[in-house]
Amino acid sequence: MHLVVLILFSIFYGYHAGTFTVDYTNHQFLKDGKPFRYLSGSIHYMRVHPGLWNDRLQRIRALGLNAIQVYVPWNLHEPTPGKMANYGQVTLQRIGTNLISTLTQIQEPCQQGQDPINFEQLDHAYGYVLYTTTLANGGKLLTTPHIADYGYVFVNNVYQNPSGIVVGHNGTSSITINAQAGDTLRILVEERGRINYWNSYLPYLDRKGLHTNVTLDGIPLKNWYSCGINLTKTAVDSLANSVINAPESLDFPIKVSAAPGVYVGQFNASQLQDTFFDSTGWGKGQLFINGYNLGRYWPLAGPQITLYVPKPYIQQVNTVILIELVGAQQNYVNFVDHAIYH
Ligand SMILES: *[C@@H]1O[C@H](CO)[C@@H](O)[C@H](O)[C@H]1NC(C)=O
Ligand SMILES: *[C@@H]1O[C@H](CO)[C@@H](O)[C@H](O)[C@H]1NC(C)=O
Ligand SMILES: *[C@@H]1O[C@H](CO)[C@@H](O)[C@H](O)[C@H]1NC(C)=O
Ligand SMILES: *[C@@H]1O[C@H](CO)[C@@H](O)[C@H](O)[C@H]1NC(C)=O
Repeated sequence: MHLVVLILFSIFYGYHAGTFTVDYTNHQFLKDGKPFRYLSGSIHYMRVHPGLWNDRLQRIRALGLNAIQVYVPWNLHEPTPGKMANYGQVTLQRIGTNLISTLTQIQEPCQQGQDPINFEQLDHAYGYVLYTTTLANGGKLLTTPHIADYGYVFVNNVYQNPSGIVVGHNGTSSITINAQAGDTLRILVEERGRINYWNSYLPYLDRKGLHTNVTLDGIPLKNWYSCGINLTKTAVDSLANSVINAPESLDFPIKVSAAPGVYVGQFNASQLQDTFFDSTGWGKGQLFINGYNLGRYWPLAGPQITLYVPKPYIQQVNTVILIELVGAQQNYVNFVDHAIYH
């Protein structure tokens, strides 16, 4: 895991505690309140002997650049190298009755149209968009050509993907569903990241969401609501708070097999340390610790089975949230002191 940091060349100006702000109205950066144009170079300092760092920075400055971008490898900066906490097992409970009813609590304003509206048109850059339509006719074969990237299908909030199948992955663009006229069909679409180059296999300039006609038994489905899911820290915290303040509303499935959902649990940390989230036993989804997005897990695909959780995200009392998209075989997760790869 790398952090990308942009550092101003204050060493060349002599250090002073300056200010940095973004002037959104005039589309410019302000340094000490004045418009400033950053001309940035990039340096991989871990590839340069420390004795040469000063020389390399002077040379970059001599090229006329005034900022430097660096990757910060976390493992070079561990407070105590190799010291990780094993916080053990954390029991998780489902928030609400199903994934959709919980995610709609944090959805952004929806747009309605004859056809689905993509992420870019919704101004929803990343994460998930939930597409909803009411079926005029029942049917079996649901086809989502050019879905970008992955889809999870629900009829009246009941999950339809066959076990482990992710629409849009591994060449899957159709699945068989069980739907009657009047049912509500929902497709939760997950965005997995964009390419920044032209590719003839992606003729949509890497637009995300549902693209051309979604069909049921060959008939295009019309009249869609397209709603972004709000995964800001405030929104994710609100989901946790809604149940932590009212524990009697929690659902305690022993085995959450084939049931996507939002799951929550808490653990106490007697000492604050780096740790690893172990996704073993879970399907596919996304981890939040104390409202912070720590990434996606998908142990079937691998190769990484654990997600690194840096110490600064750990508090005395910690809230774990999983958005689980395909269902799990257990109702707990483990925090371990080592990385697991396949
Ligand atoms: C997301 O939720 C946060 C916190 O509730 C809110 O401030 C923000 O406006 C929401 N964003 C959108 C696009 O709805
Ligand atoms: C969508 O479906 C309509 C009606 O079947 C068809 O005329 C049109 O060509 C389709 N559009 C695309 C982009 O496939
Ligand atoms: C954390 O510690 C507090 C105080 O000792 C206790 O009340 C609470 O139940 C603990 N929470 C968990 C999840 O163990
Ligand atoms: C993708 O398909 C291959 C071949 O059928 C299968 O072995 C693999 O498990 C699938 N991957 C996932 C993540 O479903």
